Parts: sequence; C-alpha cells; structure tokens
Amino acid sequence: MGRNWTEIADKIIRKEEKVAARNKGKIPYTAKDHVFDDRSDKKDICWWTNGFYGGMMWQLYNATGNELFKECAVKLEEQMDAAFLNYNGMDHDAGFRWLPTAVANYRLFAGEEAKNRGLLAAASLAGRFNLNGNFIRAWNDWGDDRDTTGWAIIDCMMNLPLLYWASKELGDPRFKEIAIAHADTAQDYFIREDGSVRHIVGFDPVTGEFDREYGGQGYGEGSSWTRGQTWALYGFTLSFIHTGDRNYLETAMKVADRFCDRIPEDGLIPVDFDQPGEPRYIDSTAAAIASCGLITLSKELEKTDKTKSALYLEAAEKMLSALDEKDCDYDPEHDELLTRCSASYHDKAHEFPIIYGDYYFIEAIWKLTDKELFIW
Ligand code: GLY
Repeated sequence: MGRNWTEIADKIIRKEEKVAARNKGKIPYTAKDHVFDDRSDKKDICWWTNGFYGGMMWQLYNATGNELFKECAVKLEEQMDAAFLNYNGMDHDAGFRWLPTAVANYRLFAGEEAKNRGLLAAASLAGRFNLNGNFIRAWNDWGDDRDTTGWAIIDCMMNLPLLYWASKELGDPRFKEIAIAHADTAQDYFIREDGSVRHIVGFDPVTGEFDREYGGQGYGEGSSWTRGQTWALYGFTLSFIHTGDRNYLETAMKVADRFCDRIPEDGLIPVDFDQPGEPRYIDSTAAAIASCGLITLSKELEKTDKTKSALYLEAAEKMLSALDEKDCDYDPEHDELLTRCSASYHDKAHEFPIIYGDYYFIEAIWKLTDKELFIW
C-alpha cells in the first residue's frame, strides 16, 4: 500500500512547531545531541546554508498560517543582512541564501525590503559572471594554494532562479541572459555522455577555455557525487520552467534517467554512486533533493510523457519512503529531521543532520500534499 503523505506532513508540522518555538533567533546548520547549532554569529553569517532554515519556516507558514513560523523566517532574513557587508564571504550561493528567505517572503507579501534584499543578492550573483567563459564563478579563493578564479560548480544551477526572478521583477533581461549563458555552459561541460555529472570544472579565467574537471565533494575525478547529480537534475528542470527551453528539459531527463537507474534497492542514496561498497556512507540530502527534482519533472511531463512522468514519481516516492522509514526523527524534542546526511565524501564525519536535508525533505512532502510555496 502507498504511503500516507498527509500523515507524514502532519507529523512534520507537529514536530516543527516545537522546534521553531525553542530555536528562535538561531540559524542552524547541524544538530549535536539533538540540539541545533547556530550560525547567526558575524563570523558564520555568510555560510552558504543559512537560508534553508528560513525556507523551512516559510514552507511551514504556508502550510499552516501559524505566525510563529513567519516570525522565525522574518527574523532570520533580517539577521542575514550582515552578509551583504562581507564581500569575501559572499559567493555564488546567493540563490541558496536569499531565494528561500527574502524572495520567498516577497512572493508571499510583496514587501519592498524583501524585494530589495532579493535584488541585491541577484546583483551580487550576476557580478560573478565570467564573460569569456560564460560561467558564474563559484567561490572566492580560500587563502591556500588553490586558484579558484576559473572554477564553476554544478550546484550553481540551483542559484540561477534568483537571476530569472530578478529579470522578471525588473523587466530587465540582463540577469536572465547571464543565467542562460551559465546553464548552456553547464550543459556543455558538466553533463557526461552517460547522463552523470561533474562537480567542479576549471576554465582559464582569462580566455574562458576549458581546463579540467575536479573531483570536488565526490569520491574522485570522473565519479558521480550524488548531491551534484541532484543539483543538475533539479536545476535544469528549473531552468526549463523559467525559460521554456526544451534543451534544459532533455538535459534534466538525461540526468534523471541515469540517477533513477542507480537508486539502490533499499532506496537509500550513497554519497557517491561510484564510491567503494564499504563503508556505505549515506547522504539523505541527495535523496531529498532528487525527490524534489523528480516530482517537479514528473509534473512537467504529466501531459506529454506519461510513462516518464510516472517513473520519476515512483522513484521519488521510493526514496521518500526509505527516508520516512529509516532516516527520519519525528521526535518533537529533537531538533533535526533527517539524521544521515553527508557534506562531502572525503570528510571525516558522515551521516549527521544537515539543515538542507530537512528543508528539501519538507519541500518534497509538501509537493506531494499540495502545500508547497514555490521558491525557486
Ligand atoms: N553546494 C554545496 C553542497 O552541495 O555541498
């Protein structure tokens, strides 16, 4: 029998009401001993995941109308203003920071302050565009021997919706054109023949010529870091939605087909599809993000390709069922929702709570129960 997604949504809401009430003013990334940490301090305010808890609060507010969630989301958005004053702390993740916060707020209430934040974030992202290489530079240098001036990463596909949004708001095509140029480059240089996806690609920052691939957060060069696959799957789906360009739809499907082929029998997603069999490190964020991408893709294909639409939905439900059964902590006294997330294959720590896992799990369940606030 199929899972009761509405019951799962209700369990999440009951838990998160308690979580939000005791974590006011925090910006969590992970949890230790079931208690959220806090990245709201000046030194951490630019951390790339800081928007996700705000996004959770908006999704919960959208589903319930409970003012507590709105209060938490607004507070977090205000705290994040400090990031605008730190050029070096900013990178291409302006989308991850301000789409789930300021832009979500703006979509609900059309306030000027929220719009202003979203547009400043979009301008910052657009300013990272490399004209000769047609890509958005991912990171600033880290002060070690790596020169990242010419680096682009697949994750950026999820930041592009900030540019699509800004163009629409301003009636100014520049932002959208930058997003399209980057997406086209990503299509050419990140997507492999078999539908798997590279994480980092280095270009010559002056001429824009392709240099090489890097292994990034996956097992190694040439491997398939699962979260990277999901950023491409969902990201190209979103670029299709915002532009109508069917090349992006085809790319999203190519990546989705490859991903679906490699979902293990038990529905739990490894950190990298090409990692050794043991230890079997799990990354539940990849399962949650892939589910969001696949459900969205499935909806887009409902009328034109019923077979693929059903297949993608089934794959998403398989992963979400596995998360619900084996990886969700619904205890209202525990802050985290997903328990087995991994940031990077070669990190020492694996399988711990990470806030964007919680965010995307909620977004996926909301998609299945018609509660979603579309924020991308
Ligand atoms: N965007 C960074 C990551 O997925 O870990």
